[in-house]
Amino acid sequence: MKFPSEPFKIKVVEPIRRTTREERDRLLREAGYNLFKVPAESVYVDLLTDSGTSAMSDNQWAGLMLGDESYAGSRNFYHFEETVKSIFGYRYVIPTHQGRMAENLLFSTVVKPGMCVPNNIHFDTTRANVEHQGAEALDVVVKEAYDPHCDMPFKGNMDLVRLEDAINRVGRNRIPLVMITITNNSGGGQPVSMANIRATSELCRRYGIPLFFDACRFAENCFFIKEREPGYQTKSIADIARELFSYGDGCTMSAKKDGLVNIGGFLSLNNAEWVQGITNRLILVEGFPTYGGLAGRDLEAMARGLKEVLDEEYLEFRIGQVRYLGELLEQGGVPILKPVGGHAVYLNAKEFLPHIPQSQFPAQALCVALYREFGIRGVEIGTVMFGKKDPSTGRTIHPELEMVRLAIPRRVYTNMQITYVAESIIELFRTREAIHGLAMTYEAPVLRHFTARFEELPA
Ligand code: F0G
Repeated sequence: MKFPSEPFKIKVVEPIRRTTREERDRLLREAGYNLFKVPAESVYVDLLTDSGTSAMSDNQWAGLMLGDESYAGSRNFYHFEETVKSIFGYRYVIPTHQGRMAENLLFSTVVKPGMCVPNNIHFDTTRANVEHQGAEALDVVVKEAYDPHCDMPFKGNMDLVRLEDAINRVGRNRIPLVMITITNNSGGGQPVSMANIRATSELCRRYGIPLFFDACRFAENCFFIKEREPGYQTKSIADIARELFSYGDGCTMSAKKDGLVNIGGFLSLNNAEWVQGITNRLILVEGFPTYGGLAGRDLEAMARGLKEVLDEEYLEFRIGQVRYLGELLEQGGVPILKPVGGHAVYLNAKEFLPHIPQSQFPAQALCVALYREFGIRGVEIGTVMFGKKDPSTGRTIHPELEMVRLAIPRRVYTNMQITYVAESIIELFRTREAIHGLAMTYEAPVLRHFTARFEELPA
């Protein structure tokens, strides 16, 4: 195993507090066994998300001091705009405070009731924003994406046959745009190949449908292309990104991932008419077009982060650290989703806890146990997040995959802390029979995973 040693040294440290098992048990009861309700201060290694949790560089912190907080035309906006154009190549750049606002602005402008938006797999806020417009959010990823054992290099690829079927079934006029999520978060952080993106682009152009990217983890996707796709080994990440985005018409971006910032996002696109509608709505709900819900200093940090993320040494460490966790777990016999994706390792809860039926939320039970025993916080990506009630029978329809995502924040944890995580999970796997299922006692009508409450079932 090639050890991915850190390409940085630590200048500032943030102490983390150790808690006792008793304390964590009490916090879990108070939180209704929902890890979103546990105070972050009581978590030792927090793998809830890689979003907004990055450590900024000294260069980004220095940039904050150069924030120009003018209401209109801040110099940081121009730096940010120029940076986004140089990487993504689209004509217009609209800053937003995070990714879902970019989605909301785009979909509320171009999606109408009865329409359909295909995507490899919609992330939950993307799906919710499409459905909020009364449209269908259709997932058309290759079928291998749903097989946790299929070790395919580009498991985030679009299924072009299903995409074309959908276009013919729904009708070109009811598909305002097609999206590709890079990397495919809900499918395990799996990359999409350049060949698949090119072919999707050709299909979309044939039908006159715009192609957009959900670009949150674009640099990680480009790194996988460089590593795995013939013909890209000698190209720079910036060149790969430029080619990739040239196949589309725009993108939404949560810079909280590959922008290496704690807050920020944007929308970038070519269609001037769409931009007009989006800008009008932006001013109503978010802010003036040269700050979009952010401070000038945030725009500066984002501009600098977007350049830093293209650094290959950083990406080698980043992807390597995630892979390192996956390899340790595999060596310990722990069932994980294969291959390991760009930002997270996913535990296969169905195989980790075969004695807990899906109706008793095995992935959530695994999250609870991991926190109670070791102070590690992961996130459930399974029945709690994606389970749906059948409106006619009232019964829950369970998703195919039942997983716990261990998302690794960028540049935050040392490899020793990652080793601690691996050893803890291997230990938990040895004693897995002691873990029991849960019953849900409260659920909100949409995005229920954030606020759901549970009770532990007796042994
Ligand atoms: N698209 C993808 C693929 C995402 O992963 C996220 C966020 C968003 C859009 C929305 O961006 O949070 O800035 O509004 N994903 C986070 C996660 C929350 O934990 O995976 P946002």
